[in-house]
Amino acid sequence: MSLKNKVAIVTGGNSGIGQAIVLELARQGARTVIDYVANPDATVALEQEICKLGNQCIGVDADVSQVADLQKLVDAAVSKFGRLDIMVNNAGIETRTSVLDTTEDQYDSVMRINLKSAFFGTQLAAQQMIKQGGGGRIINITSVHEDWPMPGNTAYCLSKGGMRMLTRTAGVELGPHDILVVGVGPGAVETPINDSTMDDPSKLKKLDSAIPLGRMARPEEIANVAAFLAGDAATYLTATTIFADGGLMQSSVGL
Ligand SMILES: NC(=O)c1ccc[n+]([C@@H]2O[C@H](COP(=O)([O-])OP(=O)(O)OC[C@H]3O[C@@H](n4cnc5c(N)ncnc54)[C@H](O)[C@@H]3O)[C@@H](O)[C@H]2O)c1
Repeated sequence: MSLKNKVAIVTGGNSGIGQAIVLELARQGARTVIDYVANPDATVALEQEICKLGNQCIGVDADVSQVADLQKLVDAAVSKFGRLDIMVNNAGIETRTSVLDTTEDQYDSVMRINLKSAFFGTQLAAQQMIKQGGGGRIINITSVHEDWPMPGNTAYCLSKGGMRMLTRTAGVELGPHDILVVGVGPGAVETPINDSTMDDPSKLKKLDSAIPLGRMARPEEIANVAAFLAGDAATYLTATTIFADGGLMQSSVGL
């Protein structure tokens, strides 16, 4: 129970990687604020699962592309649990469109949900952490595509590249407050965002063969990295990204 007495917010927390992070943080003793915008039933089921672990959580309906909603999440953490120690900026979308055909609406949605939310999530969490004292952890779920171009998914890559610089710059700025800012860069993970690949055997085979470990990650494998970064063993990591990609970025087999 290394995260006992810690309080965490996880954005996009009721599915995929976010859900696995909520569960792992709760298993390790943290009290969690589960942000969601869709599928309230999944949030209720998650709340019940965490209750069975003997832990506390609260689901909050908040659209992270709105700063006022991000403030709602921080306020919920403070009013329900008294503080905020861990902010996980996880919510994200992609459009799978190229530089030639991405519309203004698609561009704005990706940037608001992926990057603007992480920027203001970092800002509001850090303000609360500084106010209460004692430091904190901000974990940005980025992607291998913070660094690695993905033709046909330009706005997504741009947003993750922005999160890369957010992580580095905020890590430097917030270091004196003992607030550590770290990115987690997954490769390909078995979550709803990848349904179109997982539902197509030939696409899946091609992807698996490009990954040195030969398979996509399970969400829990990404959650374990996030929980490590939230915990007592990760006191000297900041302003950088940990890639959890099964070796994908170093592979010479193209996608
Ligand atoms: N699955 C992968 O292969 C992979 C790889 C690298 C990075 N990632 C990143 O991991 C994160 C989680 O994705 P996932 O794979 O679990 O997919 P997912 O679709 O299950 O999760 C995305 C979550 O974000 C939420 N969300 C979308 N818009 C929102 C908004 N406006 N406000 C609040 N929440 C909102 C969704 O409801 C969903 O819960 C994303 O940032 C994604 O870019 C995923």
